[in-house]
Amino acid sequence: MSVIILKDVSKVYGEERTEIKALYHVDLEIEEGKIFTVMGPSGSGKSTLLNILGAMDKPSSGEVIVNGIDIGNLPERKLSEYRKKQVGFTFQNFYLLPNLNVLENVLVPLVPYGIKDEDRKRAQEILDIVGLGDRTTSKVSKLSGGESQRVAIARALINDPKIILADEPTGNLDSETGKSIIELLIKLAEKGKTLIIVTHDPRVAGMIADHPLGKNIWIKDGQLSDEPTYDMYCWDSKT
Ligand SMILES: Nc1ncnc2c1ncn2[C@@H]1O[C@H](COP(=O)(O)OP(=O)(O)O)[C@@H](O)[C@H]1O
Ligand SMILES: [Mg+2]
Repeated sequence: MSVIILKDVSKVYGEERTEIKALYHVDLEIEEGKIFTVMGPSGSGKSTLLNILGAMDKPSSGEVIVNGIDIGNLPERKLSEYRKKQVGFTFQNFYLLPNLNVLENVLVPLVPYGIKDEDRKRAQEILDIVGLGDRTTSKVSKLSGGESQRVAIARALINDPKIILADEPTGNLDSETGKSIIELLIKLAEKGKTLIIVTHDPRVAGMIADHPLGKNIWIKDGQLSDEPTYDMYCWDSKT
């Protein structure tokens, strides 16, 4: 079953004369439990795609159907419910709150709803899964990059979403640490999560391509393809 279906999705920024087609007639289907990497040069539309899937941005046209819900046409109240229940997001720069400890950071998405004892228990269980079970009271400012990314992944899992959207999860990490993060994400997919990983790193794409649940797709000028063209390998900066 496809958990994500994009039908002829375009996203245009700006007015006619200055318009930028960040996504251009994109069609995509992702089945439950699959791991997709999205590779492409800076400015090709990777973050726009993730933001639309995370309902943080709306498409200009086309349909975005996630778990049977057409998220392009939801009222704001339903959208916040969608963001809470259906998707977990991790960001390249982690966006952890430096004055809170590890456990508190994982609980941040639940703050608006009030934190219960069972939430703390669940956060502890998730921290065990991501390998930080013994660091719950550490200040996040004291953590390494790899540990910070693990906290960010734990935070994305706290609402038990079906889909994890990861923007450059290894972007700020050395290659060994990056590999262990991808292994963790693969473990989550093996437990049934659907993962979409935006990456610049061919090693990440290689690991995912080698996995039975994995698939690589490429994006350039807002258009998706199953195969890279030569110039897609020639990106020079990180976004
Ligand atoms: N909020 C915005 N306003 C105007 N242009 C934007 C906005 N967000 C992204 N863009 C443009 O859309 C294109 C795709 O951006 P983005 O999705 O961030 O690319 P990537 O993540 O692949 O680097 C770029 O040309 C970028 O400048
Ligand atoms: Mg980006």
